[in-house]
Amino acid sequence: MQNVLLIGGAGYIGSHIVFRLCDLGYNVIVLDDLSSGFKENVDPRAKFIHGSIFNDTILNQAIANVDSVIHLAALKDAGESMVNPVLYTKQNIQGSLTVLKSCLKNNVKKIVFSSTAAVYGNPSYLPLDEDHPTSPINYYGYTKLCIERNLFWYSEIYGIKVACLRYFNATGYDLKNKINKVEKNPSNLLPIVMETLIGKRSELEVYGTDYDTDDGTCLRDYIHVSDLADAHSKSLEFLDSSKKSICINLATGNCHSVLDVIKEAQEVSGRPVNYRFVKRRQGDPPKLYAKSNLAKDLLNWSPKFSDLNTILKSKWNVYKKLL
Ligand SMILES: NC(=O)c1ccc[n+]([C@@H]2O[C@H](COP(=O)([O-])OP(=O)(O)OC[C@H]3O[C@@H](n4cnc5c(N)ncnc54)[C@H](O)[C@@H]3O)[C@@H](O)[C@H]2O)c1
Repeated sequence: MQNVLLIGGAGYIGSHIVFRLCDLGYNVIVLDDLSSGFKENVDPRAKFIHGSIFNDTILNQAIANVDSVIHLAALKDAGESMVNPVLYTKQNIQGSLTVLKSCLKNNVKKIVFSSTAAVYGNPSYLPLDEDHPTSPINYYGYTKLCIERNLFWYSEIYGIKVACLRYFNATGYDLKNKINKVEKNPSNLLPIVMETLIGKRSELEVYGTDYDTDDGTCLRDYIHVSDLADAHSKSLEFLDSSKKSICINLATGNCHSVLDVIKEAQEVSGRPVNYRFVKRRQGDPPKLYAKSNLAKDLLNWSPKFSDLNTILKSKWNVYKKLL
């Protein structure tokens, strides 16, 4: 079976992929500096290396003898990227180029890259598809687009094959309850709802009530992390059998408002969410959702766990242990 290195494999999404690949029989290696990940979330069947991509010796040792690399390590807070772009240049752009250089040096020719819906910016039509123009409205989205483009150039020049996976709003927890450490300092809606439910936060701020949506709050496309994990294993299979590189959306095509999420979270947990309406934030499009037809056609992938009830139940199962 193949050797796969997950860089950032102790993180929220990475740890779910590690479990899936171990179940499928891959030899999995995880390289992570634990800046936001947890060793406890890494499947014990995987080999864990504690270290940073900025340590050349450790990176080259981790990459030597692997067949493919899944590169997840990055900073992901769009708001922070606008305040501290230099940090995002280093972590996301320079970090990824360092990984790419090491892949070339060690003759690793298959790379799966964690990209994001943020590469699109404000939608000019919905649902988004991969032909939609890319015009990020925050620096985080730019860093991901920059690396996508670099990967495609290297793919042409060096003959590597890449799968850039544009995740929409990743959420949920593994349904078998194997992953139990929750995200540190989350900036996304669902973990913040959970932190409010368990009393870690006194209230949830809902940004904007006057959007052009049914209830006036923003609509987003939520995708379960176990569905993302499945897409990664299918991408590895695709890169084995195909000659081309791909860039695809991973989304459900459905969307839910902030108030839908709060209502469902209250039902699932049986507890009230203390929330308050505040002014809109800059740069939040009213609606964002996408087609994943390419993922269906090329990977034979479609989401199985991404209905809002399953997402929230799986999340609550983890957070309720913190009560
Ligand atoms: N969570 C989402 O909704 C979402 C959506 C779209 C894209 N993404 C992308 O998916 C990837 C994973 O996101 P996540 O939510 O799992 O985030 P995360 O912060 O939980 O995971 C990132 C992991 O990378 C590790 N890491 C960071 N810098 C490192 C370094 N220099 N060397 C080694 N390891 C390092 C961290 O310790 C962490 O375990 C990121 O690239 C992110 O941009 C996430």
